Amino acid sequence: MNALDVLKAKYLDGIAQAAEEAALEELRLAALGKKGEISLKMRELGQMSPEERQTTGAALNVLKNEIDAALRAKKEALADAALDARLRNEWLDVTLPGRPRRAGTIHPVSQVMDEVTAIFADMGFAVAEGPQIESDWYNFDALNIAPEHPARQEHDTFFMARDAADPRPPHVLRTHTSPVQIRAMQKTGAPIRVIAPGRVYRMDMDQTHTPMFHQVEALALGKDISMANLKWVLEEFCKTFFEVPSVELRFRASHFPFTEPSAEVDIRCSWEGGQLKIGEGNSWMEILGSGMVHPKVLEAGGIDPAEWQGFAFGMGIDRLAMLKYGIPDLRAFFESDLRWLRHYGFAALDLPTVFGGLSK
Ligand code: PHE
Repeated sequence: MNALDVLKAKYLDGIAQAAEEAALEELRLAALGKKGEISLKMRELGQMSPEERQTTGAALNVLKNEIDAALRAKKEALADAALDARLRNEWLDVTLPGRPRRAGTIHPVSQVMDEVTAIFADMGFAVAEGPQIESDWYNFDALNIAPEHPARQEHDTFFMARDAADPRPPHVLRTHTSPVQIRAMQKTGAPIRVIAPGRVYRMDMDQTHTPMFHQVEALALGKDISMANLKWVLEEFCKTFFEVPSVELRFRASHFPFTEPSAEVDIRCSWEGGQLKIGEGNSWMEILGSGMVHPKVLEAGGIDPAEWQGFAFGMGIDRLAMLKYGIPDLRAFFESDLRWLRHYGFAALDLPTVFGGLSK
């Protein structure tokens, strides 16, 4: 093997084995760089005889070209391999199903509260609030509920604990939203138009009752507010809430200590094939209690009954949600609500309004 064959073997092997571009560059410099082995050999040509120079020069040129070509080819091969590896790593199967994302949903009770609030806001009712742990006075006395009234008995009301030595009556978990009437009257006086949505508590548990449920109270006081105003407000509310063009309401004489006269209100409906339809048919369904605010209640709220009068009503929000969205069992709210929340698609808020501003 002559010297050039040794060089050739050395560089071509080196190139074949190079695993990265930096190694190739090193080989290039070692062979073809200014001080590379081939370049030095080229420089020696000057000291050779013309014949020697011709053969060695030609051979050196061939070798130089061979190494150069091998370097280029290997460089390209390394780049290709790198690209292949990258493509393999970045491979993406666009036919895979998407990753499921958890979407938050709005609970039907919250949605109905928002719907109710929006509808009454259109009729000029503001939202009033009160505590869920309420004093005996606000929950009962101020609402003209006498101490011997059955609503006060232990089996209906959750009483808070009191020190045995403390003579004051225990606080209660409010049994209705009506105490908010008193608080609102005390706060703003008359005239007033408020609704009070919120949680209420009674010791009761079966398919249609839960110990905690939700009510919305309404109170409207003015100089000449009458039951006719009550009827119009309720009709507008029911049409908008149930999304029907007309409704028929029936006022049944009733008794509440805090209203006089009092009426329970039924709505005309049909139950054909187990499907509830509001506004048509031959059945009546009770939806709320109402009446003209009792003078004693106005007085408890610091309002002069000789000057002011008006109506109040209270209705169950859970029940409204069940009726509107066809939920058969109140316990669905607590035990399996996720299942049917999704079924009913409670993801977005779509608020109906009386005057059509937000609806459709
Ligand atoms: N507070 C009554 C109840 O819980 C409802 C009601 C409110 C009735 C206002 C008349 C007026 O049943």
